[in-house]
Parts: sequence; C-alpha cells; structure tokens
Amino acid sequence: MAEYTETNGAKHFELEATAGETVFKPGRATATWGFNGSHLGPTIRARRGDDLRFTIRNHLDETTSVHWHGAHLPPEADGGPHQAIEPHGTWEPEWTVDQPATMLWYHPHPHGNTARHVYRGLAGLILIDDDAGDGLNLPREYGVDDVPLIVQDKNFDGDGQLEENDTFMSAVGIVGKEILVNGTYGPYFEASTRKLRLRILNGSNSRLYNFAFSDLREFSVIGSDGGLLAEPHRTDRIILSPAERTDIVVDLEPGETIQLQSLPVDIDFGFVYNRSHGMDDHLDVLEIRAADELSDSPDLPGSLTEIESLSAAAATAERSFRLSGMSTINGESMDMNRIDFGARVDTVEQWTVRNGNEFTHNFHVHDVQFQVASIDGEAPPPPLAGWKDTVLLVPGRDYRLLMRFSQYTDPDFPYMYHCHILKHEDSGMMGQFVVLGEGEEVGTVPEMAAHGGHG
Ligand code: C2O
Ligand code: CU
Ligand code: CU
Repeated sequence: MAEYTETNGAKHFELEATAGETVFKPGRATATWGFNGSHLGPTIRARRGDDLRFTIRNHLDETTSVHWHGAHLPPEADGGPHQAIEPHGTWEPEWTVDQPATMLWYHPHPHGNTARHVYRGLAGLILIDDDAGDGLNLPREYGVDDVPLIVQDKNFDGDGQLEENDTFMSAVGIVGKEILVNGTYGPYFEASTRKLRLRILNGSNSRLYNFAFSDLREFSVIGSDGGLLAEPHRTDRIILSPAERTDIVVDLEPGETIQLQSLPVDIDFGFVYNRSHGMDDHLDVLEIRAADELSDSPDLPGSLTEIESLSAAAATAERSFRLSGMSTINGESMDMNRIDFGARVDTVEQWTVRNGNEFTHNFHVHDVQFQVASIDGEAPPPPLAGWKDTVLLVPGRDYRLLMRFSQYTDPDFPYMYHCHILKHEDSGMMGQFVVLGEGEEVGTVPEMAAHGGHG
C-alpha cells in the first residue's frame, strides 16, 4: 500500500518510475521497471471525496506517462499521451475522487510505447472506497480476505530476461507463456477466512483469461470495472480482456487447496488463431491454500448497490466505431493533433462499437464509466451489466454503450478512446475526444499538451 502525506488537506502520493532488477525465478535477475521499487507499483488507496495529489518523477532514460485507468478526472490529470513526463522530469496531477468504490489501475500511456512500458512492470492498483461500500457486509481486509490480483503473462529468454518481441504469428503482440500474479512467479495465497474476495485485473498486454477454479466451483461476481454490480451473480467462470477488472467472492473449506486457473477461452476466433494466441491454454494462476481453521464470514448481501440505468432514448448523440486491422478506428490512426469529436457535458451518448476482424480487440474510454446497453440487440450478461470502462469486442457483434460526460470540460485538451490490446493502441488504434461545456466548440490541441510536460 502506498504511503502518503497530507498536503493542504490532500492525500499526496509520490511515485518514482525506476529501472531495476527483479528475481522471479531463483538465481535469475531480470531487468524490470517499477514505481517505488523494481517491479510494479504500490496500491493507492483513496476514498470518494478525497483530494488526491501526486508527485511523479521519471528516473528512466525515456519519456513515459502515468494514466489513471478508469478514473473520472480533468483531462490535464488523465496522464495520457499528452502528459508525457520526460526523462528526469516530474508531473504533478491532482483531482478529487468522485466515483463509486471500485478498483482502478495506473499505467504508462506514452504514445507508441505503452506496451513496452507496461510489460516491463510499470503498473499499479488504485482502490477506491466509499460510504455505501463500507455499509455492506463484504470482505474488506486488504491482503487478508480482500486480495487484489494483477495477472500478467510474460516470456523469458534463455538469460531470464523479458522477451519483448511479438510472439510468432501473433496479431496482438506479446502473448506470454508464463503467468505472474502481483509480480510473483508460482504464487500461492494462504487463506484464513471462509469467504475470499479477489479483485482481479487483467494487466496483460494482449492475453484473454477465462478465470475459474480448478474444481469449477461457483463463485459470486460482485463488481466490474467501475463499481459493484446491483446484485451478486453466481457463475463458474469469467472472461477478462486486457485492462478489465472483476471483483469476485469464493467460498472455501478448511484445509483445502484449490487453484485459480484460466480455462480455454470459448470464443471461436478460428482454430489457428486460437492456437497461436493462447486461447486454448489452460493455466494455473494462483494456488489458494485454506488454513485448517477458517474464520467465519458473513453471507453476501442480496443486493449491493443501485445502478441508475442510462437510457438510450435520452441519448443526444450517436456515434459508431469500427476497429480494424492493427491500427485503425473508422479507418483512421491516432494523430496527437486531431480531435475526433466533442461530446457535450451533461448529456448521454450512445456509441456502437464493432470489431471488424477475426482477432481480439477491446474498447476503452477515458474519463467515464459506461454501460453496455446491448450486444447485438440482446441484454448483456450480468457481469457486463454494471459500470465498465473497457469491454471485450467479440468479432462481428455490435456493442451499444451508453455514457454520460460530466463535470470536466475543455474544448482543447482531449481524452482518449482506444483498443487496450497494447500493440494495437501503440500502432494507432486510438482516437481523441473533448468534453465541451455549453456553447463550446471543438478546439485545437494546445502546443504544450502536444509536446508533453516538462521537468
Ligand atoms: Cu488503460 Cu488509455 O488506458
Ligand atoms: Cu484509461
Ligand atoms: Cu485491437
């Protein structure tokens, strides 16, 4: 957990991006990057209503940035490609947390280099708490019965170094053969409670996971990217594409050992594709060892939260996005100086998003949490029925997303939307939008933003 100091009532966190070495397998030091350490970064914990302030120093010899994935914040604090932190530079964003309790994450977003920076280890979690969440009887003791898991895949070369080249025949960049959880190889967790809450982030560059337990026991999904679901949903598996999160609770028996695994992903991308992109893999993710005596946990509440459902009828703008190839949305690649459109503040928009290929894409929007209103006209499955900031796009289906833009407006300073397969994002499968105040028109990206912040 990250330490902070209080500065003028704000929680002030410091993050130092540094290069170092990490031992994943005994006797082998691997060159890695991390925040405040050699690999990954500390968990930032904050409450709704908190003023957050960060001092981020870049000790690397290349430009990076730090983006708060899933956070509702002003565009200047977003940490996208326009907030580059030059080598030995510093960036000090601030914002007030105003969104429901959930788990977000942070990672670099430098234009064209995001995949490499995240793969080397620059990523961390943000846990947001709120009064409504605290009022529920849910497991919430960090590291005891409320355990966040950053799940990533890596390839190591013969010297134990990270293999950074794209996987052979891959349409999505790196697909790793080895799984790390919270930066640990061959991880296990010693459980001491009947109920164990796991908040899982797919922190991989491209791999899809189909999380399940080794005996296919059912568990309860209680939350998605942006907050709790309306009610727990029982299932025995859940698919996460890169950057998606899930919040699940599983029941344990005293003395047992079970594995959290990833099953083959039952989406048909075609046999050859599935083979070469890890879709057929059956992987061990985390061993869970339950103590001989487990302390009791209260039953899960029958209802968790109320989710105001956004109505398509109220949408004042409709847009459509087709992701195709490795690098385009609606036929265009990312241009730092092109603002694709402006969304009006305090309005609801309906975006129809489609994967135009036979391989993996997903779709992420900055600043907002959206709702998946329908998939090919059908209601989304329960795990996708809450707040989302990233959604997997199964080829050939229309995903209708509803979102409301609020609070922060700037006609010149853009937010991003993009595929979160990092290879695709880096290749240009990304666009930019601004949120317009009343009467404002789309402006031009400021010179300073286009060149990034200075040290
Ligand atoms: Cu997780 Cu624009 O990113
Ligand atoms: Cu993001
Ligand atoms: Cu993609």
